[in-house]
Amino acid sequence: MSDIVPATTLLRVEGLNKTYQAGGPPWRRRRVHAVDNVSLTVARGRTLGLVGESGSGKSTLGRCILGLISPDSGQVVFDGVEVQGLSGKALSSFRRRVQPVFQDPYSSLDPRWPVGRSVRESLDSYRIGTPADRERRVLDLFDRVGLNPNLVNRLPTHLSGGQRQRVGIAAALASDPELIIADEPVSALDLSVQAQILNLFMDLQQDLGVASIFISHDLGVVEHISDEIAVLYHGVVVETGDVEQVMKRPVHPYTSRLLAAIPSSTPPRR
Ligand SMILES: Nc1ncnc2c1ncn2[C@@H]1O[C@H](COP(=O)(O)OP(=O)(O)OP(=O)(O)O)[C@@H](O)[C@H]1O
Ligand SMILES: [Mg+2]
Repeated sequence: MSDIVPATTLLRVEGLNKTYQAGGPPWRRRRVHAVDNVSLTVARGRTLGLVGESGSGKSTLGRCILGLISPDSGQVVFDGVEVQGLSGKALSSFRRRVQPVFQDPYSSLDPRWPVGRSVRESLDSYRIGTPADRERRVLDLFDRVGLNPNLVNRLPTHLSGGQRQRVGIAAALASDPELIIADEPVSALDLSVQAQILNLFMDLQQDLGVASIFISHDLGVVEHISDEIAVLYHGVVVETGDVEQVMKRPVHPYTSRLLAAIPSSTPPRR
């Protein structure tokens, strides 16, 4: 691979490894190779669908990219800068530019706070705009993700799963990120709601041009919103390519199995 990063590359992951010590009694402990020599790239404004069955290493890879856990070896390079070892201003700028969306917004929303405050917190922590600007921006963000601004004072428990995920997305968008890492963001939702949230992601891609890594165990879900797909199997990327190519002409037998597993009730393409 050339050392010159193409102008369009936003994220480059190079030879990433992450192992865990498995639990249990000492004589049974072994190392789990959760992410095994993974390399991939995400271009500006593009969406990479990351698929694989449970335990294939998707979340571990996502968390390494977010800098939430450290890989054993390998590199995560965001906009030309290696993420490991960032600190101070550079780290806070990275956090602002790369935002997570999780499966369960409960994990990112404080249950005691009105949901507007959770979105506002993001603006406060990055010191975006004046306090008055921030009030306005929270309402804009609610509007942007299709939430009634009247909901800002509600607690998370008083919202539906889909509404909570919209709040989670609004909180992620607050800092105007260039890359969103969404880890199974629709898996906990009913099928009809899944389709709505997927449509929202597609709108955001089009309107804001934000790049994303969209993680799912369901190839049928990532198909709808991805430009490229990477298939993880036991921590190894066994297949990558643009979405049409992977869906129509999978090279790896494991991809074919994932294709065969797509439920016919998968949310329809808009
Ligand atoms: N903190 C941890 N300690 C030990 N092992 C872990 C830890 N986190 C993950 N693992 C192991 O690493 C492997 C990859 O897990 P990971 O959660 O990344 O997979 P995943 O593809 O996100 O799975 P799922 O679809 O269930 O979310 C699994 O074998 C898992 O048991
Ligand atoms: Mg996971």
